[in-house]
Amino acid sequence: MPSVYIKTYGCQMNERDSEAVAAQLVAKGYSLVTSEASADVILLNTCSVRDFAEQKAIGKMQNLAADVRKNRPEVVLGFMGCMAQSRGKELIDRLPDVDLVVGTQKFHRTAGYLDEILSGSREKIVDVAEEQGSEATIREHLLNGATKEKSVTAFVSIMQGCNQYCTFCIVPYTRGEERSRTIPDIVAECRELVSRGVKEITLLGQIVTSYGRRTTPHPASPPSPHPMGRGQGEGRSAKTPFVQLLEAVHEIEGLERIRFTSPHPKGYGDDLIDAYGRLPKLVEHAHIPAQSGSDRMLKLMHRGYTRERFLGIVEKLRRVKPEIGISTDIIVGFPGETGKDFEETLSLAREVEFDLAYIFKYSTRKDTPAAEMPDQLPQAVKEERNQRLLTLANEIAARRYEKFVGKQTQILVEGRSKRNLARMMGRTRCNKTVVFDGSERHRGQLMNLKITRTGSFTLYGDPAVVGLD
Ligand code: 5AD
Repeated sequence: MPSVYIKTYGCQMNERDSEAVAAQLVAKGYSLVTSEASADVILLNTCSVRDFAEQKAIGKMQNLAADVRKNRPEVVLGFMGCMAQSRGKELIDRLPDVDLVVGTQKFHRTAGYLDEILSGSREKIVDVAEEQGSEATIREHLLNGATKEKSVTAFVSIMQGCNQYCTFCIVPYTRGEERSRTIPDIVAECRELVSRGVKEITLLGQIVTSYGRRTTPHPASPPSPHPMGRGQGEGRSAKTPFVQLLEAVHEIEGLERIRFTSPHPKGYGDDLIDAYGRLPKLVEHAHIPAQSGSDRMLKLMHRGYTRERFLGIVEKLRRVKPEIGISTDIIVGFPGETGKDFEETLSLAREVEFDLAYIFKYSTRKDTPAAEMPDQLPQAVKEERNQRLLTLANEIAARRYEKFVGKQTQILVEGRSKRNLARMMGRTRCNKTVVFDGSERHRGQLMNLKITRTGSFTLYGDPAVVGLD
């Protein structure tokens, strides 16, 4: 049977989609390979969130196409995912060596399409249509991947799409309207994973805190004129569907840890904050995208919260869980961002003291409202702000990592350290990577280690202190 190489760009949702496609292909008898050199089929699962990600995938495909035309004309080349969705057939017009373009609601059709192309019954296939119920099709897992090592952690997709319509963001156009799977369906998938040895599950979606808000899709309806709506869960006693889902997953025996990504700040109502106190398997980590520290920018971005509200969430979370790790996403150089707006972002970073901040230079995305806004900033300004914020965020993070030195912390051992295969790695509940001298028998174990030193966004633990056996 043919061999397949899948290269994934972008976020954890994309990683998860690639895994599901890989599992689907393995079930059909394809073999997975870890290098494109020996593959009969090469698939690039793409990202559209910034221009750079698109250019990387296009450049890669150009190189592959040049190689294939010369040396291996029978190799099948395909684009999947977000850029496939937003550009569709245009990709084949531009790169005629590409055989397959599969959009974000059609991952489950990939194996069938490859069969058709490989058997010669069809030459080129582009499918970027919407499909009702596609949110429930990302469910197959590959728990021992191409490396054949057992997985301790797994990702479970709970919803697809986003209706937030932040003015900078292409996701509502590449991933479509919000659609959620049912709680029983998700719990069944999680149970199955746990029965196969998984200890930690990360619930995934483009805006997980909006889980279950729209149980039926309305593909024909235009975006709401007030997409920010009320603060979800805020000031209401009822539990949001997302918190109900957390409770249901929490019931699963044998599951040790629950994570989720990505939430929206508006979803941090009191019910979710309380959940951190009530549900011991919900780890002390929150990735809460702030995007900016300036209210003026937050408004232009259509984020639906203020700086004060954001700070309030952080304060409440830290009251419930003082040791919580907080990470974030920040955009610098959004259209119209003044020096003063940027200073407010710097001061937000100082005030919150994020454990980790992903900082992005604003990238113009076609057909998003921000692309048409006045006062687009020169690249040099974006670069300079990016550097300044990065320097500050790294200083703050380094101080927060330093605080772990000399302390004991619990980790879940995931496997070998990627940088040094002789070592093992795990993560703390607050999402910090810890590397230590261990062995395969520690994989999947919860261990208490003493932290001896820090590296760049890594902690080093000394197993000798605690004793591993
Ligand atoms: N330019 C720069 N960064 C962006 N992000 C989303 N869209 C853009 C854009 N047009 C960032 C946001 C988001 C993260 C996944 O990517 O910070 O949270």
